[in-house]
Amino acid sequence: MNPLPAAMLVRGTLLHFLADPGANDDAAAWQYIEDGALFIQDGRIRHCGPWHDVLAALPTLSRESARYFDYRGKLILPGFVDAHVHYPQLRVMGSFGRQLLDWLEHYTFPAEASFADRSVAEKTSAFFLDRLIAHGTTTASVFPTVHAHSVDAFFEAAQARNLRMLCGKVLMDRHCPENLRDTAQSAWDDSRALIARWHGKARLRYSVTPRFAPTSTEAQLKVAGELFASAPDLHLQSHLSENQRELAWVGELFPGRANYLDVYAHFGLIGPRSIYGHGIHLDAGERTRLAETGTALAFCPSSNLFLGSGFFNFHALSQTGVSISLASDVGGGNSLSTLRTMAAAYQVSQAQHHALSPWRAWYLATLGGARALALDQFIGNFTPGKEADFVVLDATAIPELAFRWDFAESVADRLFALMMLGDERCVAATHVLGNCVYLNKA
Ligand code: GUN
Ligand code: ZN
Repeated sequence: MNPLPAAMLVRGTLLHFLADPGANDDAAAWQYIEDGALFIQDGRIRHCGPWHDVLAALPTLSRESARYFDYRGKLILPGFVDAHVHYPQLRVMGSFGRQLLDWLEHYTFPAEASFADRSVAEKTSAFFLDRLIAHGTTTASVFPTVHAHSVDAFFEAAQARNLRMLCGKVLMDRHCPENLRDTAQSAWDDSRALIARWHGKARLRYSVTPRFAPTSTEAQLKVAGELFASAPDLHLQSHLSENQRELAWVGELFPGRANYLDVYAHFGLIGPRSIYGHGIHLDAGERTRLAETGTALAFCPSSNLFLGSGFFNFHALSQTGVSISLASDVGGGNSLSTLRTMAAAYQVSQAQHHALSPWRAWYLATLGGARALALDQFIGNFTPGKEADFVVLDATAIPELAFRWDFAESVADRLFALMMLGDERCVAATHVLGNCVYLNKA
């Protein structure tokens, strides 16, 4: 683990959010500071504001002894949050021609089976986290495989990089290949041991991870509910209502339940600190229940387009008050870039005749993600006391974007161009707890 730099002063254009700007772009929700500064001590934000104000607030000694990072001309934002991603699926991202259930069987399960070898999990975790950082993502809610050591390998790699991460062993005891199956009992035993080993250690938290309703028996879903309730501040992640065939299958497997969400509710798997990927084919009652119970959704637009799953109804879900974040869902998604996820989110919303505003999109990528993962007491913006994870974006890294940027008519127009035309080439640097952990040499 890198030692924390004692004090740092960072100069550049700052953008962070204090609240959800909502459907009407409430300007009180964000701070955009053209010539801004962050003063960071022991890995935490101490001051955030206009450069001259921050300097004036600092004692001479602090100012002179601080390490200085000059990012003028670049945009500094809280590190991106990817609220739903599968690290073992990096090796199958961009695989041709299948929809969810066939895609799982044909590409995903064989890829995950190779993680029976711990060294595969170790190598992939290191590569995955290094690539996340290169994309400006500093926090993620991560699916490993059914193998307990896939969690150990991931958390070891995350701890070595000082990252704030969520992960937890995938639970699945039916409707999957024999070599990827656990049992209700081993799900309990392995998860309890992993929780004892990792939950609350460094910046890591454990997320109980039943893959999705079709791959767990009722006995295992009951265990998942008991696990979720078994220790304070545990998280939970799974999949909900992604694909029509999946939806029909859930109806057949759980005939006694009112709808897909009701299956999870029945086993105690919804509520604060729970997040579900997708949530495309939901009815109004399910949307209300998500909002009322504080159950979050991860909007995975590139994955939904890639797998032909459908369009996430951001407008209806946000109007109902559901907590929503953005996610790549790699390997269903075809990029780790949050900028590309934002562009896809705009396109999916636009296809339903609702234009997602740049302010709302940048909120979702940062504070919205932190809130949906219930990690906003630690990360998500630059208010004093928060952990100093941030990304530095350079719009001049892509010639067409730089050209377009010069013609932009407003800050909102620039931010929109950046999310629509940008990608990981725009990530100039990534900092974790203040430390510069990635510098783009291109
Ligand atoms: N539903 C159950 N498992 C998965 C998965 O690995 N990816 C996606 N996109 N959906 C799922
Ligand atoms: Zn997923």
